[in-house]
Amino acid sequence: MEKFKFYCPTEIIFGKDSELSTASLIKKYNGHNVLIVYGGGSVKRSGLLDKICQQLSNDNLSYMTLGGVQPNPIVCFVNDAVKKAYQANIDFVLAIGGGSVIDTAKAIAHGLKYPQNDIWDIWTKKITLTNTTPMGSIVTLAAAGSETSDSAVLTNEQTGQKRGLSTPFNRPCFAIMNPQLTYSAPNYQKACGIADILMHTLERYFAKEQNNYLTDYIAEGLLKDVIAQAPIMINEPTNYIAHSEIMYAGSLSHNDITGLGRTKDFSVHKFGHELSAKYNATHGASLTAIWSSWARYIYQKDIQRFCHLGKILFNIDTLNKTDETIALETIKHFEDFFTSLNLPINISQLVGKTLTDEELTYLTSMCTDNNTKTIGNFSPLNYQDVYAIFK
Ligand code: NZQ
Ligand code: ZN
Repeated sequence: MEKFKFYCPTEIIFGKDSELSTASLIKKYNGHNVLIVYGGGSVKRSGLLDKICQQLSNDNLSYMTLGGVQPNPIVCFVNDAVKKAYQANIDFVLAIGGGSVIDTAKAIAHGLKYPQNDIWDIWTKKITLTNTTPMGSIVTLAAAGSETSDSAVLTNEQTGQKRGLSTPFNRPCFAIMNPQLTYSAPNYQKACGIADILMHTLERYFAKEQNNYLTDYIAEGLLKDVIAQAPIMINEPTNYIAHSEIMYAGSLSHNDITGLGRTKDFSVHKFGHELSAKYNATHGASLTAIWSSWARYIYQKDIQRFCHLGKILFNIDTLNKTDETIALETIKHFEDFFTSLNLPINISQLVGKTLTDEELTYLTSMCTDNNTKTIGNFSPLNYQDVYAIFK
């Protein structure tokens, strides 16, 4: 096990009715004047937004609401929001929604400390973040894990870049997680969330470092649970147990616990972000569209690991089979699982066409910062590798 530091201070309030403690939690973290951030309207339709506003009023907290965050959230929305929130003396940011809303709320919280700057300067590290505004979330979709992660992802619509920022300042004060609030999400979003949750652990599982058994067991347990609960979640929209398991997995998968003691890879996310930036693809689908191409390209780096995972997750019958066959069967099992959730397993299925050479070259350049960087750690990929995988 390699050296690691782990600090995840987010207070998690999990279970039925957990949203009833929103006002008291905001007060606990010194909020008085709250900006409530939400997305395209699902929380209005469900009545959740009204309930939270009423609760804040009853508890003598002042607030303003700001809706309209789009999936794959954009920089100009954040910059506008920071101006409004700064003028209104906001001292707490509350996200109600999925990863896009939570990431936007994180960015606004940072921006309030740097009101004269473009938020992208923080994302590109022209400005070093040294402070932020307290924020918390009420989660409505089990997916990105942003509610406890140290990351936030924005798209710069002018440059076509989608980039994550990792910093301890991204860990929210609290995460309210009532699985019932995720029931109303469309099945496609639930499926994309399931895929994202698996990927956050897979991107940590395939690493160079060996002999990290406890982290492996945690990772394998999470993957096994998500694969078992996924069809139940999709087929039974109000199954509390399945929605609970997946929701908890969503946070655990991306708060770092499933990767402690080794390096992260995250190259599949890098591919996915370029696909989302160019084609506005939903995050989870952008990952399943590339994962098996990535896996088939690199599996020989550690065939044993692919075999081991296939045996554990899919009970692959190994009698008289070579390691190579078992590893490839493992990859095929993942593809079949994604297909069973109606998710794409290649780029054509994701964007509805075969990409031209010009498009492939563009994506590859974006992914490698114009051929100046490799991506990933498990098997660092250069420009030629990235091009081949996209193709
Ligand atoms: O906008 P509304 O109307 O709320 O609808 C949303 C949106 O259309 C809908 N939805 C969410 N909860 C619902 C619901 N509809 C009905 N009922 C509910 N209960 O689902 C749609 C997608 O929402 P979004 O927030 O975009 O999904 P997700 O949670 O998957 O977040 C994706 C974003 O997170 C980033 C992704 O790149 C993407 O931008 N990620 C953030 C990470 C992080 N901060 O740590 C890590 C991830 O790897 C990921 O990159
Ligand atoms: Zn992700």
